[in-house]
Amino acid sequence: MKQRKFKIGAAVTTCYFSCQFSYLKKLVPIEHTVLLTDQHVYKAHASLFKGWNTIVLKAGESYKIQPTVDAVIEQLTKLKADRQTWLIGVGGGVITDLAGYIGAIYMRGIKVGFVPTTLLAMVDAALGGKNGIDHGTYKNLVGTIRQPAFLLYDTKFLKTLPEKEWKNGFAEIIKHAVCFKPNLFRALEKNNLSYYQKNKRAIESLIEKNAWIKLSTVQQDETEQGIRSILNFGHTLGHAIEMVYEVSHGEAISLGMVAAATLSSKLNGFMDATRLQLLLAQYGLPTVASYDLTKLMRVMEMDKKKTGKKVRYILLEKIGKARPQLLPFSTLEKLLKPQS
Ligand code: GLY
Repeated sequence: MKQRKFKIGAAVTTCYFSCQFSYLKKLVPIEHTVLLTDQHVYKAHASLFKGWNTIVLKAGESYKIQPTVDAVIEQLTKLKADRQTWLIGVGGGVITDLAGYIGAIYMRGIKVGFVPTTLLAMVDAALGGKNGIDHGTYKNLVGTIRQPAFLLYDTKFLKTLPEKEWKNGFAEIIKHAVCFKPNLFRALEKNNLSYYQKNKRAIESLIEKNAWIKLSTVQQDETEQGIRSILNFGHTLGHAIEMVYEVSHGEAISLGMVAAATLSSKLNGFMDATRLQLLLAQYGLPTVASYDLTKLMRVMEMDKKKTGKKVRYILLEKIGKARPQLLPFSTLEKLLKPQS
């Protein structure tokens, strides 16, 4: 097991990499802890939850809403949870978002830890302190920024992870590489999904590297005034695609990254758009799709990152170097339109 501490603002988050779930007993007192998980994780790993107070939620983004928060608070009061209680989210991004948010508001804040169980949560969604719930069609409209005290990483959870979930995780890993780390980009080019699925040491080291990239970026800019916004590469169009079409987060982000790379070629002379497309395809992610641009533009105009008639778009200069650029929506629409 490897322990790494990250100081973020006034908080310290400790990551326990290459760890075992059973180590949780050493981190929190079992009698003052409530685990929050979903039915999928609970069914797949029922024996792990024996002896722990556990709240089991229905699985899926559609439950990341206020009524779920109310139901969990009700159960916490029934379990007599108080200010000494730890709330531990054991699951993917929906569960860690809910646990982080409920932990921040219950009794004005109780201690929170995460056991991320999907690759996406391990490298991205459970890290960074942003948590919250959706409201209507708006994703993450309500929430707080509050860092968890710890994350416990146990790759046994990845053994039961569907292929689609692996690809979701790799979309964010490729994003980290293309925005910050040319060496990681080259390493990913040399391997493929099945290599990481079969090689425990390789996936553990990849997860640790990516958690470090995310947390060291958040450390520099917790409230997203500058460098943290680079993590939104591919996400402006990606989120719109995700809201309008039935596609996974990774698929949507992959298409968003391809579009952002093409824009980067047109605006900044970025030379490696094809290399990025090939890498995404190598990890089973889509790189071409036909979509209704007018519809997507309307969704992007509602983006939290917009400023008046402009949007802060993340563009690449070269592999490993990205920067935000303020683009008028009209320019964006013109540049994203397929050439005929
Ligand atoms: N919880 C995800 C983030 O803070 O980016």
